[in-house]
Amino acid sequence: MKWTKESWRELNILQQPEYEDKAKLKEVENKLASLPPLVFAGEARRLQSRLAQVCEGKAFLLQGGDCAESFANFSANSIRDTFKVMLQMAIVLTFAGGCPVVKVGRVAGQFAKPRSSDTETINGITLPSYRGDIINSPVFSAEARKADPARMLEAYHQSAATLNLLRAFARGGLADLEQVHKWNLGFVKNAGLGTEKFEHLAEQISQALAFMEACGINTKNSPTLRETAFYTSHEALLLPYEEALTRIDSLSGEPYCCSAHMLWIGERTRGLDDAHVHFLSGVKNPIGCKMGPNATADDIIKIANKINPANEAGRFNIIIRMGSQLIGERLPKILEGVKREGLNILWSIDPMHGNTVKASNGYKTREFEAVMSEVKSFFDIHKACGTVAGGVHLEMTGNDVTECTGGISGVSEADLASRYETQCDPRLNAEQALELAFLIADCVKEARK
Ligand code: PEP
Ligand code: CO
Repeated sequence: MKWTKESWRELNILQQPEYEDKAKLKEVENKLASLPPLVFAGEARRLQSRLAQVCEGKAFLLQGGDCAESFANFSANSIRDTFKVMLQMAIVLTFAGGCPVVKVGRVAGQFAKPRSSDTETINGITLPSYRGDIINSPVFSAEARKADPARMLEAYHQSAATLNLLRAFARGGLADLEQVHKWNLGFVKNAGLGTEKFEHLAEQISQALAFMEACGINTKNSPTLRETAFYTSHEALLLPYEEALTRIDSLSGEPYCCSAHMLWIGERTRGLDDAHVHFLSGVKNPIGCKMGPNATADDIIKIANKINPANEAGRFNIIIRMGSQLIGERLPKILEGVKREGLNILWSIDPMHGNTVKASNGYKTREFEAVMSEVKSFFDIHKACGTVAGGVHLEMTGNDVTECTGGISGVSEADLASRYETQCDPRLNAEQALELAFLIADCVKEARK
């Protein structure tokens, strides 16, 4: 089937809202198509070349952010805090792995959510499920749950404002290595018992910075120490939005989806002949695809050939999310099967979505230990297979929320109620995310030896 940006409309599609007002939908799509792109094709190409280094084991991918961005909680402070934590994690991983960290936020477009059921029933009332702020509202009323096309425009404008701030943070001082390291020293100081290893690592980074300063390299005279590149990504779920932001790059003549640098396909919408895979096979951005516990080597080979027929390095990222219990049994067979094909695949691990549990008090949560255990298995399995564990994909926030249990901050099930703020899935809070980075540092160091 010939690809055009609208050819997905002929195919089977899952997880889409039903818009009642078709005329309004068309009007919004036309408006979006007339608005400026959010990212440039050249930036997406630069990201692909950095991801190609990840495939070779010469860089590491850190992808993270909210499960779902929200209109109501949109604030400069929370964007800043998540950005800060990602940079803090990146320093630790850069030092441990002795390689650059490619930073990709789940941000500036992560608004549409796949749902396990089309409807939700509370006290005998059944309404359409909440599908993310770009589609409807989480408020439980018939009016609020109607899919409203105008929300796509609000999501676009919020994404533009978010990107503007991220670009300023990346270039304007918030990425200063010395400053970011000071925040890490604050973290290890407060981390408490059992974290001597973290202190030791932080001390080694202090020494490295002091050594560079003694050699005359510091953040004042070296832009590379005070600036960074920060890329954006989201699940390309709502295709009318993605189509409207797809543009032909004037330099290469190729189509790029300019809503984000990188886009991914969710576990629920990765049907090989379905609309999402087809749409993303035609745009030239780096593309990810989630793979749950039922995925096979054959699924991965087929989708890789479809999304990345030229087998370009850095173009296709498989995001494993099997859960800490199943990864040990399922991933080795997959890696062995795929390895024989000689495909260029960037393998990363999402240790969040396979480890979601219901706490005894009803909250949807994730245990820090299960998250870490899946990451550890991912590294061990790659080592045994001789393949590259390229990165991690996390649901996290810079805010001090209580959504995941465990870690040194000791969030218990009883604490979940105090600051459970997520719009969708439970996120690691700032301390849990940093702790995870310090723990992953060991895995990256071992793998890059
Ligand atoms: C997500 O990343 O928020 C998500 C829904 O993931 P998955 O497709 O892996 O379930
Ligand atoms: Co999620």
